[in-house]
Amino acid sequence: MTLPGPLNPPSRLLMGPGPINADPRVLRAMSAALVGQYDPFMTHAMNEVMELYRRVFVTSHRQTLLVDSTSRGGIEAAFVSVLEPGDKVLVPVMGRFGHLLVEIAQRCGAEVHTVEVPWGQVAPYELIADAMEKVQPKLLAVVHGDTSTTVVQPFDGLSDLCQRYGTLLYADVTATIGGNEFLTDAWGVDIATGGLQKCLGGPSGSAPVTFSAHAEAVINSRKSIEAGIRAEGDAVASHPIRSNYFDMSMVFEYWSERRLNHHTEATTMLYGARECARIVLEEGLERFQARHLVHGRAMMAGVRGLGLGVFGDVEHKMTNIVGVVIPDGVDGEAVRGHLLQDFGIEIGTSFGPLHGKVWRIGTMGCNARQDAVLTTLAALESVLRREGFGLPAGGGVDEAYRVYAEATA
Ligand SMILES: Cc1ncc(COP(=O)(O)O)c(C=O)c1O
Repeated sequence: MTLPGPLNPPSRLLMGPGPINADPRVLRAMSAALVGQYDPFMTHAMNEVMELYRRVFVTSHRQTLLVDSTSRGGIEAAFVSVLEPGDKVLVPVMGRFGHLLVEIAQRCGAEVHTVEVPWGQVAPYELIADAMEKVQPKLLAVVHGDTSTTVVQPFDGLSDLCQRYGTLLYADVTATIGGNEFLTDAWGVDIATGGLQKCLGGPSGSAPVTFSAHAEAVINSRKSIEAGIRAEGDAVASHPIRSNYFDMSMVFEYWSERRLNHHTEATTMLYGARECARIVLEEGLERFQARHLVHGRAMMAGVRGLGLGVFGDVEHKMTNIVGVVIPDGVDGEAVRGHLLQDFGIEIGTSFGPLHGKVWRIGTMGCNARQDAVLTTLAALESVLRREGFGLPAGGGVDEAYRVYAEATA
């Protein structure tokens, strides 16, 4: 058998809904030398990561750390550690990732209740409040920005509702963290889980997570340290967490002074996650978000300047992704194919009811920048014209320039 050749990926501008191009600084950090799991350098880096992500999540939650997995592993770790069979969960479903929360909660054996709104809309507060009164769940699980629809769910009033019913408030911030306002403590969020591959500008494979003292207490009530590393006096719960890998009570112990030998921390991913947070905080969280807002607006204006429609409730649009209505008669996949082959630019397709109807274009992380926006708009115009769709010459780039001129005025 001949060996495959050395890895030589093509040069791409990743302007989809994520993953996006990793910041070169993150990739450089990820090529740093490995150290042992308990090397003082490593444990110090773990502590630094906790502190850095407290600032990214805007929280003082002690349990702010990384789960070694893609973002859905962060969700699964939170749910399986909190939920016991029969526990009630309420999920507002606004798109694909609301369905994912339902799916994961159901697999934990929870009794899952939903309120559903059409894709592209946010769930009105009253709808959630009524359901909360009826269900009185242990967990209210909300996707902050549902990448599949590009819309951000407001959190106003949710923490008051949760306090009324003794409910834990969970947020999936995979697609929003860093680039959209998210205030864990001020909004009373107990658990939030994210990922690196969107606004944070890293590769997928590490999930920054944060847990309040309340959530930590719920999880620790089920603490059961595995045999082999169990010490005298360690609790053995009668109803342990149903996953070993995602048992946050043991993961917390690994990230504590005890340094319980639960798993082997993914050192290279930790280096990457650390650099992602450093990049955000060096620019300043507010300026980082403002940059996402400007380039997201420029992209949306450019899309409209090409005569294309924008999908969803734009009043609640995420800063970092725009949904573009594929015009009648245009083959959405052919356009994506030409963008990739001819220009090296990737934009996203959509799922479920939006498949074939909406493209998703992202402007996030190090790709939230003017040349990436203008290049994408110019390329899209060219490909659409070749596909026979008549559109205003230069209209996309001109409208984006207008937004940039306003932003610097
Ligand atoms: C909002 C949201 N939640 C969860 C996920 C799942 O993330 P992953 O693919 O990293 O497991 C994604 C992925 O795009 C997402 O956008």
